[in-house]
Amino acid sequence: MDASTHITAVTNQKGGVGKTATALNVAGALAEAGHNVLLVDLDPQGHLTDGLSIEQGPTGEGAANLYRALIGEYTGSIADLITPHSVPAGRLDLVPNTIEMFMAVRELDKQRVREHRLARLLAPVRGIYDHVLIDAPPSLDILTDNALAAADGVLIPVQAEDSSLKALRLLLPQIASVDVDLRDKPLQLHGLVVSLLRRPTTKLAESVLAELEQLDGLPILGTVPLSVVVTEAWRSGRTVVDYAPDSEHAETYRALAKALGGGQ
Ligand SMILES: Nc1ncnc2c1ncn2[C@@H]1O[C@H](COP(=O)(O)OP(=O)(O)O)[C@@H](O)[C@H]1O
Ligand SMILES: [Mg+2]
Repeated sequence: MDASTHITAVTNQKGGVGKTATALNVAGALAEAGHNVLLVDLDPQGHLTDGLSIEQGPTGEGAANLYRALIGEYTGSIADLITPHSVPAGRLDLVPNTIEMFMAVRELDKQRVREHRLARLLAPVRGIYDHVLIDAPPSLDILTDNALAAADGVLIPVQAEDSSLKALRLLLPQIASVDVDLRDKPLQLHGLVVSLLRRPTTKLAESVLAELEQLDGLPILGTVPLSVVVTEAWRSGRTVVDYAPDSEHAETYRALAKALGGGQ
């Protein structure tokens, strides 16, 4: 393994908790700080690809797309799966989704070494990119296992809601079982990103935040309030640090980038 590349899975099986926004904007902050960053859109819904206004991968037998590569049908270079997005200081590139990803869970279940497909696919980019961020799907399935097997560390977006505490009670054992069954060394749990926080914070949110703060070995790395800045940047295909560089949100994403070891 090349220690100079850090692969992070941005994961939580709960949908709508800010995974894609976190992956996109932390990647933007890392690239702004001069790092070469590759994003991987592993969610069949393709929101990350949309959020960067990048076209989906091609389709058809043997096509150079993430799905065909995961199931072993595309065996060419990963370089041909990568679409450049921007070059703020370092570069920001993406392995886009493809509509065919909807078949990935079913097809991967038929494969051998099915949990290690993404790790194998990403092996050649180690040493080329400083950071790889994987935007995982909202499920505890074979795609998420692939993300957890391929990553060095994990970043977990959550909301200050009871449902997020419940989601963690499923996710953390899943990570532990991947550590035991699929990995040589345990995943680094970077911590939580509290996303979509409504302001002013309610009593309920405060009590959930207090519970999240008690979690051993899982620090809250940052809190991202609900704001149109995030959705506006997303709709314009840009990252928050690029779209609103002086915003509070840009600062939060820069701090998260630093927490991943990628500060300026
Ligand atoms: N801090 C935020 N403020 C406002 N909207 C946000 C924020 N973070 C995410 N969103 C929006 O909320 C929705 C869910 O976030 P998303 O990142 O897609 O969650 P997930 O990937 O976990 O499903 C998206 O439409 C996204 O644009
Ligand atoms: Mg998403």
